[in-house]
Amino acid sequence: MELTKKITALLLSAAALSTAIPVSTCADESEMPELISDINDDHALTVQDMVLMSKYLLGSGELEEEAFSRADSNADGSVDTFDLANMRHSYIYNASHTPAGKWEGTGFNGERVFQFDDSETGSVSIPARNVTIPFTIRTNGSKITFALSGGAPASAVISWIDSEHFYLEWDGSKSEYFTYSGNHTIVDTGLELNGNYISNLGDTYSFEKNAGKCNGGPVTVVSKNKEIKFIYGNGTSQTGVYSPVDKYHFTIIWNDGTVEKFTRREIKTSNGLTYVNGILIANKTYSVPQSYDPGGLTGEFMAAYNEMIADAYADGITLWVCSGYRSYSYQSKLYNNYVYTDGKAAADTYSARPGHSEHQTGLAADINSADESFAGTPEAKWLAANCWKYGFIIRYPKGKESITGYIYEPWHIRYLGKENAKLVYESGLTLEEYLGIDSVYSY
Ligand code: DAL
Ligand code: ZN
Repeated sequence: MELTKKITALLLSAAALSTAIPVSTCADESEMPELISDINDDHALTVQDMVLMSKYLLGSGELEEEAFSRADSNADGSVDTFDLANMRHSYIYNASHTPAGKWEGTGFNGERVFQFDDSETGSVSIPARNVTIPFTIRTNGSKITFALSGGAPASAVISWIDSEHFYLEWDGSKSEYFTYSGNHTIVDTGLELNGNYISNLGDTYSFEKNAGKCNGGPVTVVSKNKEIKFIYGNGTSQTGVYSPVDKYHFTIIWNDGTVEKFTRREIKTSNGLTYVNGILIANKTYSVPQSYDPGGLTGEFMAAYNEMIADAYADGITLWVCSGYRSYSYQSKLYNNYVYTDGKAAADTYSARPGHSEHQTGLAADINSADESFAGTPEAKWLAANCWKYGFIIRYPKGKESITGYIYEPWHIRYLGKENAKLVYESGLTLEEYLGIDSVYSY
Protein backbone atom coordinates (compact mmCIF):
# COMPACT_ATOMS: atom_id res chain seq x y z
CA MET A 1 0.00 0.00 0.00
CA GLU A 2 2.70 2.46 1.06
CA LEU A 3 4.77 1.60 -1.96
CA THR A 4 1.78 2.03 -4.28
CA LYS A 5 1.10 5.41 -2.71
CA LYS A 6 4.69 6.49 -3.26
CA ILE A 7 4.66 5.38 -6.87
CA THR A 8 1.33 7.06 -7.44
CA ALA A 9 2.58 10.28 -5.86
CA LEU A 10 5.61 10.15 -8.11
CA LEU A 11 3.50 9.59 -11.17
CA LEU A 12 1.00 12.21 -10.20
CA SER A 13 3.64 14.87 -10.37
CA ALA A 14 4.22 16.45 -13.71
CA ALA A 15 7.84 15.47 -13.38
CA ALA A 16 6.94 11.85 -13.90
CA LEU A 17 5.55 12.68 -17.29
CA SER A 18 7.87 15.37 -18.50
CA THR A 19 11.27 14.94 -16.88
CA ALA A 20 13.78 12.39 -17.98
CA ILE A 21 14.47 9.91 -15.25
CA PRO A 22 17.54 8.02 -16.37
CA VAL A 23 16.36 4.47 -16.87
CA SER A 24 18.50 1.72 -18.29
CA THR A 25 15.79 0.69 -20.75
CA CYS A 26 16.03 4.01 -22.59
CA ALA A 27 16.11 3.41 -26.31
CA ASP A 28 19.22 4.37 -28.15
CA GLU A 29 18.45 7.75 -29.73
CA SER A 30 20.14 6.67 -32.93
CA GLU A 31 17.45 4.01 -33.40
CA MET A 32 14.76 6.64 -33.58
CA PRO A 33 13.72 7.39 -37.14
CA GLU A 34 14.41 10.79 -38.56
CA LEU A 35 11.64 13.30 -38.68
CA ILE A 36 11.34 14.98 -42.08
CA SER A 37 11.76 18.78 -41.95
CA ASP A 38 13.08 18.57 -38.38
CA ILE A 39 16.08 20.71 -39.24
CA ASN A 40 17.52 21.02 -35.73
CA ASP A 41 17.00 17.28 -35.08
CA ASP A 42 15.16 17.64 -31.79
CA HIS A 43 12.39 15.18 -32.84
CA ALA A 44 9.84 17.95 -32.98
CA LEU A 45 8.66 20.09 -35.81
CA THR A 46 8.46 23.53 -34.27
CA VAL A 47 8.69 27.18 -35.13
CA GLN A 48 12.47 26.90 -34.64
CA ASP A 49 12.65 24.66 -37.70
CA MET A 50 10.52 27.16 -39.58
CA VAL A 51 12.95 29.93 -38.61
CA LEU A 52 15.98 27.89 -39.76
CA MET A 53 14.24 27.16 -43.05
CA SER A 54 13.22 30.78 -43.63
CA LYS A 55 16.68 32.11 -42.82
CA TYR A 56 18.25 29.67 -45.24
CA LEU A 57 15.79 30.59 -47.99
CA LEU A 58 16.38 34.29 -47.38
CA GLY A 59 20.13 33.79 -47.51
CA SER A 60 20.69 34.89 -43.94
CA GLY A 61 21.51 31.45 -42.51
CA GLU A 62 23.50 28.38 -43.45
CA LEU A 63 22.57 24.72 -43.06
CA GLU A 64 25.17 22.11 -42.25
CA GLU A 65 25.22 18.93 -44.28
CA GLU A 66 22.92 16.86 -42.03
CA ALA A 67 20.56 19.77 -41.36
CA PHE A 68 20.42 20.38 -45.10
CA SER A 69 19.42 16.80 -45.83
CA ARG A 70 16.71 16.94 -43.12
CA ALA A 71 15.39 20.18 -44.62
CA ASP A 72 15.39 18.68 -48.13
CA SER A 73 12.11 16.85 -47.56
CA ASN A 74 11.61 15.87 -51.19
CA ALA A 75 15.26 14.75 -51.45
CA ASP A 76 15.84 16.57 -54.72
CA GLY A 77 19.22 17.94 -53.65
CA SER A 78 18.08 21.47 -53.01
CA VAL A 79 16.27 23.16 -50.15
CA ASP A 80 13.62 25.33 -51.73
CA THR A 81 10.04 26.49 -51.50
CA PHE A 82 8.76 22.93 -52.15
CA ASP A 83 10.42 21.89 -48.91
CA LEU A 84 8.95 24.91 -47.17
CA ALA A 85 5.50 23.85 -48.40
CA ASN A 86 6.07 20.30 -47.12
CA MET A 87 7.15 21.68 -43.78
CA ARG A 88 4.05 23.84 -43.50
CA HIS A 89 1.89 20.87 -44.44
CA SER A 90 3.44 18.74 -41.68
CA TYR A 91 3.12 21.61 -39.24
CA ILE A 92 -0.61 21.91 -39.95
CA TYR A 93 -1.06 18.12 -39.84
CA ASN A 94 0.54 17.96 -36.39
CA ALA A 95 -1.68 20.75 -35.12
CA SER A 96 -4.83 18.99 -36.24
CA HIS A 97 -4.20 15.33 -35.37
CA THR A 98 -4.48 13.99 -31.84
CA PRO A 99 -3.64 10.33 -31.33
CA ALA A 100 -6.40 7.83 -30.66
CA GLY A 101 -6.16 4.31 -29.32
CA LYS A 102 -3.19 2.56 -27.82
CA TRP A 103 0.42 3.71 -28.39
CA GLU A 104 3.66 2.27 -27.11
CA GLY A 105 6.24 4.86 -26.18
CA THR A 106 9.98 4.54 -25.82
CA GLY A 107 12.82 7.00 -25.47
CA PHE A 108 12.85 8.00 -21.86
CA ASN A 109 11.19 6.89 -18.65
CA GLY A 110 11.45 3.36 -20.01
CA GLU A 111 8.61 1.79 -21.92
CA ARG A 112 5.27 3.46 -21.49
CA VAL A 113 1.86 2.79 -23.00
CA PHE A 114 -0.47 5.68 -23.69
CA GLN A 115 -4.14 4.97 -24.22
CA PHE A 116 -6.09 7.81 -25.82
CA ASP A 117 -9.78 7.08 -25.33
CA ASP A 118 -11.22 10.16 -26.95
CA SER A 119 -10.12 13.70 -27.63
CA GLU A 120 -9.93 14.54 -23.92
CA THR A 121 -9.23 11.49 -21.79
CA GLY A 122 -6.88 8.56 -21.60
CA SER A 123 -4.33 6.86 -19.41
CA VAL A 124 -0.64 6.13 -19.20
CA SER A 125 0.72 2.77 -18.07
CA ILE A 126 4.23 1.86 -17.05
CA PRO A 127 4.30 -1.91 -17.50
CA ALA A 128 7.55 -2.27 -15.55
CA ARG A 129 5.88 -0.75 -12.51
CA ASN A 130 2.47 -2.22 -13.14
CA VAL A 131 0.67 1.10 -12.79
CA THR A 132 -1.92 2.88 -14.91
CA ILE A 133 -2.83 6.50 -14.32
CA PRO A 134 -5.71 8.28 -16.04
CA PHE A 135 -5.16 11.68 -17.58
CA THR A 136 -7.07 14.40 -19.33
CA ILE A 137 -5.60 16.33 -22.22
CA ARG A 138 -5.97 19.72 -23.82
CA THR A 139 -4.56 20.53 -27.20
CA ASN A 140 -3.37 23.82 -28.56
CA GLY A 141 -2.00 23.43 -32.05
CA SER A 142 0.60 20.69 -31.88
CA LYS A 143 1.05 21.20 -28.15
CA ILE A 144 -0.69 18.61 -25.98
CA THR A 145 -1.03 19.31 -22.28
CA PHE A 146 -1.52 16.27 -20.08
CA ALA A 147 -3.04 16.54 -16.63
CA LEU A 148 -2.80 13.58 -14.30
CA SER A 149 -5.43 13.78 -11.61
CA GLY A 150 -4.08 15.98 -8.84
CA GLY A 151 -0.80 16.71 -10.61
CA ALA A 152 0.54 19.77 -12.37
CA PRO A 153 0.16 19.58 -16.14
CA ALA A 154 2.99 18.61 -18.47
CA SER A 155 3.15 19.59 -22.10
CA ALA A 156 4.64 18.00 -25.17
CA VAL A 157 4.79 18.87 -28.85
CA ILE A 158 3.52 16.14 -31.13
CA SER A 159 5.22 15.49 -34.46
CA TRP A 160 3.82 12.78 -36.69
CA ILE A 161 6.17 10.66 -38.77
CA ASP A 162 3.32 8.75 -40.39
CA SER A 163 -0.10 7.57 -39.25
CA GLU A 164 1.43 4.91 -37.00
CA HIS A 165 4.41 6.79 -35.55
CA PHE A 166 4.90 10.07 -33.79
CA TYR A 167 7.21 11.86 -31.40
CA LEU A 168 6.31 13.68 -28.25
CA GLU A 169 8.89 16.25 -27.26
CA TRP A 170 8.46 16.92 -23.56
CA ASP A 171 9.32 20.37 -22.22
CA GLY A 172 11.22 21.25 -25.35
CA SER A 173 14.00 18.78 -24.80
CA LYS A 174 13.14 15.15 -24.10
CA SER A 175 11.87 13.01 -26.95
CA GLU A 176 9.66 10.00 -26.68
CA TYR A 177 8.96 7.90 -29.74
CA PHE A 178 5.55 6.25 -30.17
CA THR A 179 4.39 3.32 -32.23
CA TYR A 180 0.77 2.44 -32.76
CA SER A 181 -0.38 -0.73 -31.11
CA GLY A 182 -3.38 -2.23 -32.90
CA ASN A 183 -4.69 -3.65 -29.68
CA HIS A 184 -7.54 -1.37 -28.66
CA THR A 185 -8.42 -1.45 -25.04
CA ILE A 186 -10.56 1.11 -23.39
CA VAL A 187 -10.99 2.26 -19.88
CA ASP A 188 -14.61 2.38 -18.80
CA THR A 189 -16.32 0.31 -21.51
CA GLY A 190 -19.92 0.67 -20.50
CA LEU A 191 -21.26 -1.24 -23.42
CA GLU A 192 -20.83 -4.75 -24.73
CA LEU A 193 -22.21 -5.72 -28.12
CA ASN A 194 -23.02 -9.35 -28.82
CA GLY A 195 -24.98 -11.11 -31.52
CA ASN A 196 -26.01 -10.51 -35.11
CA TYR A 197 -27.39 -7.22 -36.33
CA ILE A 198 -28.49 -5.64 -39.57
CA SER A 199 -28.75 -1.92 -40.10
CA ASN A 200 -30.86 0.44 -42.13
CA LEU A 201 -27.73 1.28 -44.14
CA GLY A 202 -27.68 -2.31 -45.42
CA ASP A 203 -24.74 -3.37 -43.25
CA THR A 204 -24.59 -6.71 -41.48
CA TYR A 205 -22.73 -7.12 -38.21
CA SER A 206 -21.86 -9.92 -35.87
CA PHE A 207 -20.35 -9.16 -32.49
CA GLU A 208 -18.91 -11.18 -29.69
CA LYS A 209 -17.91 -9.07 -26.72
CA ASN A 210 -17.34 -5.98 -28.89
CA ALA A 211 -15.19 -7.81 -31.43
CA GLY A 212 -16.70 -8.95 -34.68
CA LYS A 213 -17.39 -8.48 -38.33
CA CYS A 214 -18.96 -5.72 -40.39
CA ASN A 215 -19.96 -6.93 -43.86
CA GLY A 216 -17.41 -9.72 -43.42
CA GLY A 217 -14.48 -7.48 -42.41
CA PRO A 218 -13.15 -7.12 -38.87
CA VAL A 219 -14.55 -4.49 -36.53
CA THR A 220 -13.77 -3.67 -32.91
CA VAL A 221 -16.08 -1.65 -30.72
CA VAL A 222 -14.90 0.65 -27.97
CA SER A 223 -17.13 2.91 -25.97
CA LYS A 224 -17.08 5.40 -23.22
CA ASN A 225 -20.33 6.67 -21.81
CA LYS A 226 -22.49 7.25 -24.89
CA GLU A 227 -19.55 7.77 -27.21
CA ILE A 228 -18.98 4.71 -29.36
CA LYS A 229 -16.26 3.97 -31.85
CA PHE A 230 -16.07 1.26 -34.49
CA ILE A 231 -12.51 0.47 -35.52
CA TYR A 232 -12.33 -1.38 -38.81
CA GLY A 233 -9.72 -3.84 -40.03
CA ASN A 234 -8.18 -1.37 -42.44
CA GLY A 235 -7.34 0.97 -39.56
CA THR A 236 -10.11 3.46 -40.24
CA SER A 237 -12.63 4.22 -37.56
CA GLN A 238 -15.94 5.95 -37.02
CA THR A 239 -17.14 7.65 -33.87
CA GLY A 240 -20.69 8.46 -32.89
CA VAL A 241 -23.27 8.63 -30.14
CA TYR A 242 -25.00 5.42 -29.08
CA SER A 243 -28.59 5.28 -27.93
CA PRO A 244 -30.42 2.14 -26.91
CA VAL A 245 -34.00 1.70 -28.15
CA ASP A 246 -35.09 -1.64 -26.73
CA LYS A 247 -33.66 -5.10 -26.24
CA TYR A 248 -33.30 -5.72 -29.98
CA HIS A 249 -32.56 -2.22 -31.28
CA PHE A 250 -30.11 0.61 -30.90
CA THR A 251 -29.15 3.65 -32.91
CA ILE A 252 -25.83 5.33 -33.56
CA ILE A 253 -25.68 8.89 -34.78
CA TRP A 254 -22.25 8.97 -36.41
CA ASN A 255 -20.25 12.17 -36.16
CA ASP A 256 -20.82 12.88 -39.86
CA GLY A 257 -24.56 13.04 -39.14
CA THR A 258 -25.47 9.62 -40.55
CA VAL A 259 -28.08 7.81 -38.48
CA GLU A 260 -27.55 4.05 -38.38
CA LYS A 261 -30.36 1.95 -36.89
CA PHE A 262 -29.33 -1.50 -35.70
CA THR A 263 -31.73 -4.42 -35.44
CA ARG A 264 -30.71 -7.63 -33.73
CA ARG A 265 -31.59 -10.56 -35.93
CA GLU A 266 -30.85 -14.13 -34.95
CA ILE A 267 -32.34 -16.51 -37.51
CA LYS A 268 -32.59 -20.18 -36.59
CA THR A 269 -34.28 -22.99 -38.46
CA SER A 270 -35.47 -26.18 -36.88
CA ASN A 271 -37.54 -28.94 -38.53
CA GLY A 272 -38.35 -26.62 -41.43
CA LEU A 273 -39.58 -23.84 -39.12
CA THR A 274 -37.89 -20.46 -39.05
CA TYR A 275 -37.46 -18.58 -35.80
CA VAL A 276 -36.22 -14.98 -35.74
CA ASN A 277 -35.13 -13.89 -32.26
CA GLY A 278 -37.08 -16.93 -31.06
CA ILE A 279 -40.29 -15.90 -32.86
CA LEU A 280 -41.80 -18.43 -35.29
CA ILE A 281 -42.29 -16.73 -38.64
CA ALA A 282 -44.79 -17.48 -41.38
CA ASN A 283 -44.97 -14.86 -44.11
CA LYS A 284 -44.31 -14.61 -47.85
CA THR A 285 -40.57 -15.22 -47.32
CA TYR A 286 -40.74 -17.90 -44.63
CA SER A 287 -43.05 -20.90 -44.80
CA VAL A 288 -43.96 -23.75 -42.50
CA PRO A 289 -43.75 -27.36 -43.68
CA GLN A 290 -46.86 -28.95 -45.17
CA SER A 291 -46.84 -31.53 -42.39
CA TYR A 292 -46.64 -28.98 -39.56
CA ASP A 293 -49.56 -29.47 -37.21
CA PRO A 294 -49.61 -27.69 -33.85
CA GLY A 295 -52.93 -29.42 -33.13
CA GLY A 296 -55.08 -26.28 -33.31
CA LEU A 297 -54.58 -22.91 -31.67
CA THR A 298 -51.77 -23.41 -29.18
CA GLY A 299 -52.23 -23.58 -25.41
CA GLU A 300 -50.40 -20.28 -25.00
CA PHE A 301 -52.60 -18.63 -27.58
CA MET A 302 -55.76 -19.91 -25.92
CA ALA A 303 -54.72 -18.90 -22.39
CA ALA A 304 -53.94 -15.34 -23.51
CA TYR A 305 -57.09 -15.21 -25.66
CA ASN A 306 -59.35 -16.32 -22.80
CA GLU A 307 -57.86 -13.69 -20.51
CA MET A 308 -58.39 -11.06 -23.21
CA ILE A 309 -62.00 -11.86 -24.07
CA ALA A 310 -62.94 -11.89 -20.38
CA ASP A 311 -61.51 -8.36 -19.90
CA ALA A 312 -63.11 -7.22 -23.17
CA TYR A 313 -66.47 -8.56 -22.05
CA ALA A 314 -66.16 -6.60 -18.81
CA ASP A 315 -65.68 -3.51 -21.00
CA GLY A 316 -68.86 -4.35 -22.95
CA ILE A 317 -66.96 -5.82 -25.91
CA THR A 318 -67.71 -9.29 -27.23
CA LEU A 319 -64.91 -11.01 -29.17
CA TRP A 320 -64.84 -14.42 -30.83
CA VAL A 321 -62.63 -16.34 -33.22
CA CYS A 322 -64.09 -16.58 -36.71
CA SER A 323 -61.05 -18.35 -38.17
CA GLY A 324 -58.34 -19.99 -36.08
CA TYR A 325 -55.92 -22.77 -36.94
CA ARG A 326 -55.79 -23.84 -40.57
CA SER A 327 -54.08 -26.90 -41.98
CA TYR A 328 -52.00 -26.71 -45.15
CA SER A 329 -54.77 -28.34 -47.18
CA TYR A 330 -57.42 -25.99 -45.81
CA GLN A 331 -55.25 -22.92 -46.60
CA SER A 332 -54.69 -24.40 -50.04
CA LYS A 333 -58.45 -24.63 -50.69
CA LEU A 334 -59.06 -21.10 -49.41
CA TYR A 335 -56.27 -19.57 -51.47
CA ASN A 336 -57.15 -21.42 -54.66
CA ASN A 337 -60.76 -20.36 -54.28
CA TYR A 338 -59.70 -16.69 -54.04
CA VAL A 339 -57.42 -17.10 -57.05
CA TYR A 340 -60.34 -18.60 -58.97
CA THR A 341 -62.73 -15.74 -58.15
CA ASP A 342 -60.34 -12.78 -57.95
CA GLY A 343 -57.19 -13.67 -59.88
CA LYS A 344 -53.77 -14.54 -58.47
CA ALA A 345 -52.40 -11.01 -58.14
CA ALA A 346 -55.39 -9.82 -56.11
CA ALA A 347 -55.55 -12.99 -54.01
CA ASP A 348 -51.89 -12.56 -53.06
CA THR A 349 -52.69 -9.21 -51.43
CA TYR A 350 -55.06 -10.73 -48.87
CA SER A 351 -54.64 -14.49 -48.77
CA ALA A 352 -51.49 -16.47 -48.05
CA ARG A 353 -50.34 -19.22 -50.35
CA PRO A 354 -50.42 -22.64 -48.68
CA GLY A 355 -47.42 -23.04 -46.37
CA HIS A 356 -47.18 -19.29 -45.86
CA SER A 357 -50.22 -18.57 -43.68
CA GLU A 358 -49.74 -17.60 -40.05
CA HIS A 359 -52.94 -19.50 -39.38
CA GLN A 360 -50.93 -22.70 -39.96
CA THR A 361 -48.78 -21.93 -36.91
CA GLY A 362 -51.64 -22.10 -34.40
CA LEU A 363 -50.51 -18.69 -33.19
CA ALA A 364 -52.88 -16.48 -35.23
CA ALA A 365 -56.62 -16.00 -35.54
CA ASP A 366 -59.20 -13.73 -37.13
CA ILE A 367 -61.51 -11.96 -34.69
CA ASN A 368 -65.27 -11.49 -35.19
CA SER A 369 -65.40 -10.76 -38.89
CA ALA A 370 -62.63 -11.04 -41.44
CA ASP A 371 -63.81 -8.32 -43.78
CA GLU A 372 -63.98 -4.52 -44.10
CA SER A 373 -67.09 -4.33 -41.93
CA PHE A 374 -64.91 -4.94 -38.88
CA ALA A 375 -62.74 -1.82 -39.31
CA GLY A 376 -63.78 1.07 -37.09
CA THR A 377 -66.17 -0.97 -34.90
CA PRO A 378 -65.89 -0.64 -31.09
CA GLU A 379 -64.57 -4.24 -31.12
CA ALA A 380 -61.83 -3.40 -33.65
CA LYS A 381 -60.88 -0.30 -31.64
CA TRP A 382 -60.75 -2.24 -28.38
CA LEU A 383 -58.66 -4.97 -29.98
CA ALA A 384 -56.17 -2.49 -31.49
CA ALA A 385 -55.79 -0.61 -28.20
CA ASN A 386 -55.60 -3.59 -25.85
CA CYS A 387 -54.50 -6.83 -27.50
CA TRP A 388 -50.78 -6.19 -26.84
CA LYS A 389 -51.45 -6.38 -23.09
CA TYR A 390 -52.32 -10.05 -23.55
CA GLY A 391 -49.47 -10.87 -25.90
CA PHE A 392 -51.06 -10.20 -29.32
CA ILE A 393 -50.35 -7.77 -32.15
CA ILE A 394 -52.46 -6.61 -35.08
CA ARG A 395 -50.27 -8.34 -37.60
CA TYR A 396 -51.09 -6.45 -40.82
CA PRO A 397 -51.45 -2.75 -39.99
CA LYS A 398 -52.80 -0.03 -42.24
CA GLY A 399 -50.31 1.56 -44.63
CA LYS A 400 -47.75 -1.27 -44.26
CA GLU A 401 -48.92 -3.39 -47.19
CA SER A 402 -45.57 -3.16 -48.96
CA ILE A 403 -43.78 -4.44 -45.84
CA THR A 404 -46.08 -7.18 -44.54
CA GLY A 405 -47.18 -8.16 -48.05
CA TYR A 406 -50.89 -7.91 -47.08
CA ILE A 407 -53.63 -5.32 -46.97
CA TYR A 408 -54.81 -3.93 -43.65
CA GLU A 409 -56.42 -6.68 -41.56
CA PRO A 410 -57.70 -5.19 -38.29
CA TRP A 411 -59.14 -8.61 -37.39
CA HIS A 412 -55.98 -10.73 -37.68
CA ILE A 413 -54.10 -11.11 -34.40
CA ARG A 414 -50.82 -12.90 -33.83
CA TYR A 415 -49.67 -14.24 -30.48
CA LEU A 416 -46.09 -13.20 -29.56
CA GLY A 417 -46.15 -13.42 -25.78
CA LYS A 418 -46.55 -10.41 -23.53
CA GLU A 419 -42.98 -9.14 -23.61
CA ASN A 420 -42.54 -9.22 -27.38
CA ALA A 421 -46.06 -7.96 -28.10
CA LYS A 422 -45.45 -4.94 -25.88
CA LEU A 423 -42.08 -4.23 -27.53
CA VAL A 424 -43.54 -4.50 -31.05
CA TYR A 425 -46.60 -2.42 -30.09
CA GLU A 426 -44.46 0.31 -28.52
CA SER A 427 -42.09 0.35 -31.49
CA GLY A 428 -44.94 1.19 -33.86
CA LEU A 429 -43.32 -1.21 -36.34
CA THR A 430 -44.65 -4.23 -38.17
CA LEU A 431 -43.21 -7.58 -37.11
CA GLU A 432 -41.12 -7.60 -40.31
CA GLU A 433 -39.60 -4.21 -39.53
CA TYR A 434 -39.12 -5.07 -35.88
CA LEU A 435 -37.15 -8.20 -36.76
CA GLY A 436 -35.40 -6.81 -39.84
CA ILE A 437 -36.89 -9.39 -42.21
CA ASP A 438 -38.91 -9.15 -45.41
CA SER A 439 -42.08 -10.77 -46.71
CA VAL A 440 -41.71 -11.52 -50.41
CA TYR A 441 -42.43 -14.68 -52.37
CA SER A 442 -39.43 -16.17 -54.12
CA TYR A 443 -41.69 -17.87 -56.67
N1 DAL B 1 -55.15 -13.37 -44.56
C1 DAL B 1 -53.87 -13.84 -44.15
C2 DAL B 1 -52.78 -13.08 -44.81
C3 DAL B 1 -53.68 -15.31 -44.41
O1 DAL B 1 -54.22 -15.80 -45.41
O2 DAL B 1 -52.99 -15.95 -43.64
ZN1 ZN C 1 -56.04 -14.10 -40.58
